[in-house]
Amino acid sequence: MTRLIHLTDLHFGSERADLVQPLHDAVVVARPDLVIVSGDLTHRARAGQFRRAMAFLGGLGLPFVTLPGNHDIPLFNLPARFLATFGGWQRHVSPDLSPAREAGAALIFSANTADPYRWRGGQLRDDDLRRIFAGLKARNPGMVPILACHHPLKVPPGFQRGETHGATSALPALIRDGLQVVLTGHLHHWEIGLGITEATPQPLLMVQTGTALCDRPGERDHGFSVLDLGQDTIAVTPWIAAEGSAAFRPATKRRFLRRDGLWYLAG
Ligand SMILES: [Fe+2]
Ligand SMILES: [Fe+2]
Repeated sequence: MTRLIHLTDLHFGSERADLVQPLHDAVVVARPDLVIVSGDLTHRARAGQFRRAMAFLGGLGLPFVTLPGNHDIPLFNLPARFLATFGGWQRHVSPDLSPAREAGAALIFSANTADPYRWRGGQLRDDDLRRIFAGLKARNPGMVPILACHHPLKVPPGFQRGETHGATSALPALIRDGLQVVLTGHLHHWEIGLGITEATPQPLLMVQTGTALCDRPGERDHGFSVLDLGQDTIAVTPWIAAEGSAAFRPATKRRFLRRDGLWYLAG
């Protein structure tokens, strides 16, 4: 079995300070093969915020891979926003804005969807897509291809913003070339298996994980997702610190079964 943790929207600089140590402890106890962190490490892309986010991630003592979110590029400093968009990220996090990794049976691609010209929405870039298509074509068929990016590739019902430019046209080709799972954040909202019901299996298992730590008014159900990959199965368990609590606990696990290129709800 391969265990992944999907962590997103840490928002250091506007984080729930009381949840930082419990989050560390819960992630470490889960013993994942890899932690995937889909952006918004910081609230305002400041050096100190990047440093604290990286101290947190490094302090887990676990392999992790991460990519930028819209909060990881400068907002108010317009010259920096447009001329050195990912300068802070590349200085403090990694020169690579869309890294790929392998962990057990998981083949992870990422896309950098943060775009200085769109604040809430994202952009799926051609160079990322080219790399993902090449990786999908070259993959070992026993691996499960997973794409992680900050902005959702499909927006759940009830959300008017947060769409990713280029996703609608790219999704059919990504599915055709074998992509199986998409991990996204940004909405600070949970949606596990978007569109998959008992009556409607889907080619993509989309996991939209809520914010891990953001302290903005109205934020609830902080947490992360644990994905357990088996033979043609994935079980997704949200670990949530419910309102008023500073402890992360497993919530209802959802199991998905892959058959003939589609994900079925298995309970
Ligand atoms: Fe966020
Ligand atoms: Fe975001």
